[in-house]
Amino acid sequence: MTRIKRKWMLFWMKRAGLGHLGRLSTMLATWFAPAYKDRMLLANCHPNGFVDPSAVIRIEKEKLHLGKHVYIGDRCVFYQAGPAGHKSGSITLGDRVHLYRDVIMEIGNGGSLFIGSETHIQPRCQLTAYLGNLHIGSRVEIAPNCAFYPYNHGFSTDEPIRDQALFTKGGIGVGDGAWLGFGVIVLDGVTIGNGAVVGAGSTVTKNIPDNAIAVGAPARVVGMRNASSTPS
Ligand SMILES: CC(C)(COP(=O)(O)OP(=O)(O)OC[C@H]1O[C@@H](n2cnc3c(N)ncnc32)[C@H](O)[C@@H]1OP(=O)(O)O)[C@@H](O)C(=O)NCCC(=O)NCCS
Repeated sequence: MTRIKRKWMLFWMKRAGLGHLGRLSTMLATWFAPAYKDRMLLANCHPNGFVDPSAVIRIEKEKLHLGKHVYIGDRCVFYQAGPAGHKSGSITLGDRVHLYRDVIMEIGNGGSLFIGSETHIQPRCQLTAYLGNLHIGSRVEIAPNCAFYPYNHGFSTDEPIRDQALFTKGGIGVGDGAWLGFGVIVLDGVTIGNGAVVGAGSTVTKNIPDNAIAVGAPARVVGMRNASSTPS
C-alpha cells in the first residue's frame, strides 16, 4: 500500500465515529482499503476503531459503549427493540473486540450484552439479550453460527406463546479464554467456565467447569484441557 493511501486512511479514521459525519469518514477511509477481514488494519490504525459503513446501528447512543480499536465487520447489526427511552439495557464491547460479518447483537427488555477485551466473534453469530444478561469474558474465541439466548418465552398452555411474557433464569456467562466451536447454542441460566472448550454443534444447557471440554446436545464434559490437549 502506498504512503498516500495510508495517509488517506489515517486522515479519515481519525474522524471516524458513530455520528453521521463519523460514519461518512469511515466510508471514505475504506476507499483504498482491502476487503473483509483485512480491513482490520483500519481498526488498528486509530483508537476510534472501525465500524464498517454497512453495519446497522439502531441503538441509542448512550446505550452503546465501544472500546478502543474495535473491529465491527460488514453487515453487523446492533439493534435495540422498542422506542427510544425504552427500558432496554446496553451493549458494551471492550478494547480490540472483533465482530466479523453478519454478527447480530440485540437488546430490548432490560437485558444487557457485555463482551470483554480481545474477544473474537466469527460470522453470523446471534447474541440476543432482550431479557437477562449475556456476559462474555476476555480473549474468548467464538466460531461462526453460534447463538446465545439468556431468556425464554413463557410457554404455558393458557395463551399463545407469542403473547406470553419473557422470563430469565439468570442469563449467560462465558469465562475468559473459552473457545466455542461452530454452531454452538448456549441457553439461559448457564455459565461456561474460564478456558473451557465447547465442541462444534453442541447445545449448552448446564454449567461447564473451567478448562473442561464439553461436546454434544446437551453438552457433556468429555475431558479436561491439559498440556497435551493439542496434538503437535
Ligand atoms: C471439541 C473438540 C475440540 C474436541 O477435539 P478432541 O479433543 O480432539 O476430541 P476427540 O476427537 O478425541 O473426541 C472425543 C470424543 O468426543 C466426541 N466429539 C468430539 N467433538 C464432538 C462434537 N463437536 N460433537 C459431538 N461429539 C464430539 C468424539 O466423537 C469422541 O467421542 P468417543 O470418545 O465416543 O469416540 C473438537 O471435536 C471440536 O468440536 N472442534 C471444534 C471445531 C470448530 O468448530 N472449529 C471452528 C473454528 S474456530
